[in-house]
Formats: sequence, structure tokens, C-alpha cells
Amino acid sequence: MKLASGILFSENQIQQRVAELARQINRDYQGKSLVLCAVLKGSIPFLGDLMRRLDGEVRIALIEMKSQVDGQHASILFTSSLDLAERHVLIIEDIVDTGITLDYLIKHLEAERSPASLKVAVLLDKPEARRIDVPVHYRGFTVPDRFVVGYGLDYKELYRNLPYIGWVEQE
Ligand code: IMP
Ligand code: MG
Repeated sequence: MKLASGILFSENQIQQRVAELARQINRDYQGKSLVLCAVLKGSIPFLGDLMRRLDGEVRIALIEMKSQVDGQHASILFTSSLDLAERHVLIIEDIVDTGITLDYLIKHLEAERSPASLKVAVLLDKPEARRIDVPVHYRGFTVPDRFVVGYGLDYKELYRNLPYIGWVEQE
């Protein structure tokens, strides 16, 4: 695999879109305190850029999920300490692909953590790959069914540090 030359979303495009999402979130959660529940590790840049543009009370929770290679299962590897009970929780995820990971996380948080409300913000949505219907309340960009990297997204743990989003393809 190698990095393709094409850039899907430039650093500028990403920053502008994240600012738009932040404005929407600021409006929707006006006067409410919010917990951003970020899914590690892919959502780190998105979390960092988004949270700096939110102007209300914001808390952070981190969760690491494992998505099985066969795409059929998900599980939770790590959860940071923060009580989510009766709080307004917004899941921050890098990309929704099959939907299996998000579906598992939503069900887990609703069953085990009793949030006052639960919504989902994803930077990227790959609707063609969807196998389970999941709610997406805030969406950065829709992408075609190709493997994308950068701005948190990895291929074998690399490329997360790119400030833009591109794709990898077979050499
Ligand atoms: P799911 O298929 O919706 O469960 O997505 C599982 C996880 O796979 C996402 O949270 C991403 O971390 C990862 N993933 C899915 N598509 C891509 C991609 O195109 N590039 C990098 N990671 C991806
Ligand atoms: Mg992820």
C-alpha cells in the first residue's frame, strides 16, 4: 500500500467544516453542559479542533474500542474516568463505515452509563459501506467507499498525523 497523490479534503477544508459543526453544536447545546465522548485513537485531531471552538461547559471522556477484523463485532478496551449519568453526551468518532462500532458503543452507553441524552458527531460518513443503521447527528463529510487516512485516520497505525485526509491504494 502507498499513499495516493490525491487529497480528499485539505487542511483548510477540514478546519472550515469543523468550525461549522462547532457552530451548530454551540447552538444546539446552548445553556447545557456537554460531555464529548471521543473514540480513540482516530478522533483525536477532530476532538482537539472541535472542542476549542465550543463555548459552553465541556467535559471530555475517552473510550477505546476494538473493531474485529471480520467487522462483525466490537468491544471496549479502555474507558477514562468520568461519570456520564444524567449528562448530555456527544460521541466523537472519526468515521462511520459499517456502523458496527458505533452501534455497539451507543447501545453500551445507553445501557450502562444512563446519559441524559446521547448524540453522535462523525467527521466522515461512508454510507455505501453501512451494514447497521446508526444515527448521525453531526457529519463532517460524506466519503466514497475507499480507504481513507490522515487527520486521525490510520492505515496500520500510520498517517494519523497528516493534517489533511487522503486515501491509500494498492501498489
Ligand atoms: P465501522 O465499520 O463503522 O464499525 O468502523 C470501524 C472503525 O474502522 C472506524 O471507527 C475506523 O477507526 C475504522 N475505519 C473504517 N473505515 C476506515 C477508513 O477508510 N480509514 C481508516 N479507518 C477506517
Ligand atoms: Mg475509529
